[in-house]
Amino acid sequence: MLESILDIFCLQCFYNRKRAFSILGFQSFTEKQNKKMEFQNKVVLITGAGSGIGRVTAHAFAKEGAVVVVSDINEEGGKETVGQIATMGGKEAVFVKCNVTKFEEVENLIKSAVTQFGRVDIAINNAGIGTLPAKTINTSLEDWDKTMAVNATGVFYCMKLELKQMMQQGGGGIVNTASIAGLRGLPNNIAYVASKHAVVGMTKTAAMEYAPHNIRINALCPVFTVTPLFNPEMMEKISAGLPKKLKANIPMRRFADPIEMANATLWLCSDKASFMTGHAMPVDGGLTA
Ligand SMILES: NC(=O)c1ccc[n+]([C@@H]2O[C@H](COP(=O)([O-])OP(=O)(O)OC[C@H]3O[C@@H](n4cnc5c(N)ncnc54)[C@H](O)[C@@H]3O)[C@@H](O)[C@H]2O)c1
Repeated sequence: MLESILDIFCLQCFYNRKRAFSILGFQSFTEKQNKKMEFQNKVVLITGAGSGIGRVTAHAFAKEGAVVVVSDINEEGGKETVGQIATMGGKEAVFVKCNVTKFEEVENLIKSAVTQFGRVDIAINNAGIGTLPAKTINTSLEDWDKTMAVNATGVFYCMKLELKQMMQQGGGGIVNTASIAGLRGLPNNIAYVASKHAVVGMTKTAAMEYAPHNIRINALCPVFTVTPLFNPEMMEKISAGLPKKLKANIPMRRFADPIEMANATLWLCSDKASFMTGHAMPVDGGLTA
């Protein structure tokens, strides 16, 4: 019906149909297909992309035309993400195994990306681990060291080398995955909270240092997001009623979907956020409001 009205409109006005669509604010299918994708040909490196938020973020960048360097300590998960991007018809994705706590492996990751694609336009430092809940005096030294090594030192190693590369190529963008635990305390999680506050602090410091070099650095601060790291069903088995209690604290009364984190990250990396740097952005259904 709308199309026949448009046809008459076109004939009367001697406009072609495409023009009529655009006058009314519609985009034709072909126009949508031809729309320049936001991250077309950008080289995007993502750590911890073999699962959860990192994987969904890799899919989202691939959908926008990016070349994705999928990295993870878990080879099977990382290769699976690459396979999924290929099935989706993504431009190009490769897997590079990397344990972010090993400086030489991070060096190899950046080197592989640059050797294969010439540059790293965007880096998402997302690899992270959680800890079993324990009060401060019961937190083992082992748990402390491991959490700080992956969540904090891993981000430092990655940024140190990514920034060097981005300086050489004249700019870039970085998003570090922190947490709402990087913005406030979370009882029974001292190591995790300390590591995520470190991510926010590093993000702000590096953002100030490298803003003059055309490099924007922001942190994403997710609330509970359903992934293998945060599995409400498993949580319910361990502590009946806990997921319900956690949801009750979130004004939007639900947990997040990984795509909501991916969308926020893409936005932070896009030109739409061109004047944002050093920001720790909560995506939390209002929890920290
Ligand atoms: N899921 C949540 O509720 C939530 C909330 C806030 C912040 N986060 C943060 O989001 C990020 C992603 O978490 P997720 O929920 O997708 O978890 P996930 O467990 O699904 O994914 C994390 C990935 O990191 C990888 N990884 C772990 N240690 C590594 C290492 N040393 N080197 C390289 N890769 C390593 C894992 O193999 C895994 O693939 C983490 O930094 C996490 O702290 C998650």
